[in-house]
Amino acid sequence: MVMKTEPWGEALDAVLADGYETGSREPALIVPTPSGRPFTQELAVHLSERPWLIFTPARYEGIDRRVVDEYATRMPVYEVSIGDYVLAGGEAAVLVVTEAVARLLPGVLGNAESHRDDSFAPGAMASLLEGPVYTKPPEWRGRDIPDVLLSGHHGKIARWRRDEALKRTTAHRPDLIERCDPKAFDKKDREMLSILGWEPDPEGEPYGRFWRRAEGVEE
Ligand SMILES: C[S@@+](CC[C@H](N)C(=O)[O-])C[C@H]1O[C@@H](n2cnc3c(N)ncnc32)[C@H](O)[C@@H]1O
Repeated sequence: MVMKTEPWGEALDAVLADGYETGSREPALIVPTPSGRPFTQELAVHLSERPWLIFTPARYEGIDRRVVDEYATRMPVYEVSIGDYVLAGGEAAVLVVTEAVARLLPGVLGNAESHRDDSFAPGAMASLLEGPVYTKPPEWRGRDIPDVLLSGHHGKIARWRRDEALKRTTAHRPDLIERCDPKAFDKKDREMLSILGWEPDPEGEPYGRFWRRAEGVEE
């Protein structure tokens, strides 16, 4: 069963008319679909710069293609997938995109800078996952916060965080490590990568692959 053109056309026209009446500039249309481009932090940042967003969460087999083609003549359209699986409907995908975009808007986070340290923060040459985080109390059910985090030594803490990020990224998302620009890594990063069994990939550069697992290192 495919969702029909008419109700979608009427709904979108009404939402657009409302938006333009209140003086908004051109929105972007977000079409959640498993066949869309992957929704990433980079895309969230890009969408957070649009004046407003309209979403078309569907059900059944999706929406008659002519709806997307029609509105693509009037505004930018982003067909996005939130992962390699199929949901029954697009509502959860809309929530995911909304959450990721909204927290990037000015005034939403207490500290506007904090999203720059997040996993996948774009702009960095190395897109690493964030390592584990801790807060008070220093001991809970016999489990201690790592000593270094209580040392007050900012340099050592930063190094520990970076090493944990490298460990977690190599373990959970080796594809991200493969693509990291070598210029993103200092001597200590390289030492840690070597301990973790990673080495520069001399043949990969033309394919955007800069690192590989050293021979004999198991996944
Ligand atoms: C059952 S799905 C349709 C699946 C479609 N027949 C296909 O195989 O690509 C119904 C709706 O759920 C939403 N949806 C399902 N999986 C999604 C995903 N991974 N990302 C974004 N939206 C998704 C979309 O709005 C989609 O049109």
